Amino acid sequence: MQTIGVIGAGQMGSGIAQVVAQHGMKVLLADVDLAVAEKARAGIEKQTGKLVAKGKMEASDAEALFGRIMPVAEYAPMAEAEFIIEAATEREEVKQKIFEQAGKVLASDAILASNTSSIPITRMGNHAPDPARFIGLHFFNPVPLMGLIEVISGLATSEETTRRTRAFGESLGKEVIEVEDEPGFVVNRILVPMLNEAVFVLGQGTASIADIDKGCRIGLNHPMGPLELADFVGLDTCLEIVKVLFHTTGDSKYRPAPLLVKYVEAGWLGRKTGRGFYDYSGEEPVPTR
Ligand code: 3HC
Repeated sequence: MQTIGVIGAGQMGSGIAQVVAQHGMKVLLADVDLAVAEKARAGIEKQTGKLVAKGKMEASDAEALFGRIMPVAEYAPMAEAEFIIEAATEREEVKQKIFEQAGKVLASDAILASNTSSIPITRMGNHAPDPARFIGLHFFNPVPLMGLIEVISGLATSEETTRRTRAFGESLGKEVIEVEDEPGFVVNRILVPMLNEAVFVLGQGTASIADIDKGCRIGLNHPMGPLELADFVGLDTCLEIVKVLFHTTGDSKYRPAPLLVKYVEAGWLGRKTGRGFYDYSGEEPVPTR
């Protein structure tokens, strides 16, 4: 059975672990400590339990999937992994430390991939044990439901690494696009300025939260409005990405909306903290303005 290491057991890491296990592979799931990885595994059990209750998954398949996910306290067992996927918080220094630690156990023919949403792959490759076997593997949230993966090759990434990573992405039942290592890659380069712009629109008092979202949901046929989606992605993540676009290009069109900065400073990070542009404490999200 193919083994995959996943480092970071938050929203993205859990989703990746679920999908990988669903496709018959063994997952070694790590976070800052074992308890975090175990909690993530319990979350996956709950999620798949719902699918079983709805008749969308056989109970035996859910049990087998769950059995293939092993929380681990350290990276050493990942020496058997073909891929190690980093899905930690979107902060470069955190990721660098992980690459250095994971590099100590990475097998000589294994690939180290980052699920970064915008940090340059070429630059991060310098902290990987072998930049030729380092690549971006960008999933979309919620990972089990979203059909796309971006595969981002850095300058030093080998063709063989790109080919194997693409094949791995496809083996997870996802569509893959190959992308050059440019700020924001393709999807976030287009999406995040739109989310940021929605916060400018809100900050300028052009319309209410509910109407901005309704406008885009109905007027553009988007499944979620931009403020709803920003809350879903996490306002801190949105801000990190827009800052990367701003600093790496130096282009003022990517300047962060001041209200987005304020929300992040207030600790109102969206769904994960119970409050962002919406308040999530009740049954239904309620707009806060
Ligand atoms: N595993 C498997 N199935 C799951 C699941 C999971 N973890 N979570 C939910 N589901 C199932 C549900 O059980 C549900 O099944 P049902 O239809 O039988 O009830 C089905 O999936 C849909 O769930 P919902 O009822 O919650 O679905 P909605 O119709 O409300 O859609 C949504 C939810 C898919 C999130 C939709 O609103 C959407 O597509 N939103 C936009 C998401 C998006 O744009 N994501 C990309 C963000 S950008 C990004 O990720 C990049 C990063 O770098 C920032």
